[in-house]
Amino acid sequence: MTLHFNIVTIFPEYFVPLDISLLGKAQTSGLISINTVNLREFASAPHYSVDDTPYGGGAGMVMRADILADAIDSVLRSGSKLVFLTPSGQKLTQRICEEFANVQENQDVDSNIILVCGRFEGFDARIQEYYKAQTDVDVFEISIGDYVLFGGEVAALVVIEAVSRLIPGVLGNPQSLVEESHQLNSEGHELLEYPNYTRPANFRGLEVPNVLLSGNHAKILEWRHEQAIKITNAVLFN
Ligand code: ADE
Repeated sequence: MTLHFNIVTIFPEYFVPLDISLLGKAQTSGLISINTVNLREFASAPHYSVDDTPYGGGAGMVMRADILADAIDSVLRSGSKLVFLTPSGQKLTQRICEEFANVQENQDVDSNIILVCGRFEGFDARIQEYYKAQTDVDVFEISIGDYVLFGGEVAALVVIEAVSRLIPGVLGNPQSLVEESHQLNSEGHELLEYPNYTRPANFRGLEVPNVLLSGNHAKILEWRHEQAIKITNAVLFN
């Protein structure tokens, strides 16, 4: 199966870096596809504007629902996930990325994720209302964190990278997915990853923890688990 990303944006150039490294390979091998939809192509001459002043007054401009809908419809099909990137959305988590990657579901069917990048003061609120009323489309509003960017493009890049690496075959070593941060362990707890070390054994006077040089695999596992719990408590619960 292929996971198709369709990105609705006024800045298709933002997405050129997705052709490099592992995401470039994933595209070449057909595991994912990445297509940009230039919103301006759905706007009208002479100005090709995609925004207008807000009803009721106030600062900034609002993205027009009619132009957005024409762009979205050009890549929409039944079963699509439609994702609006906005600072007022639900916070992106590893669980949501897993849902987008469809990891547990039917691997024989292509999936379609449409990422809609907001700009200006955001979207005309009717755009989400309209698609939420459609029963064969799953609508999400996603924020990548509690801060405000110029637009949703960087957020779309984050979603594509975090989701694609969960697709079987995209990562060289699938074991990397099992041991990394934010995975659920066997007890269903989300743990951050333990610290890693490599050569040299002595870095500017700093030694590698002895247990990792001991060759005792059970002890190493136990130490790593303790460290993961320590780090998780310090980072997530303080
Ligand atoms: N657009 C502007 N800020 C954003 C954020 N934090 N997350 C997603 N989209 C955004």
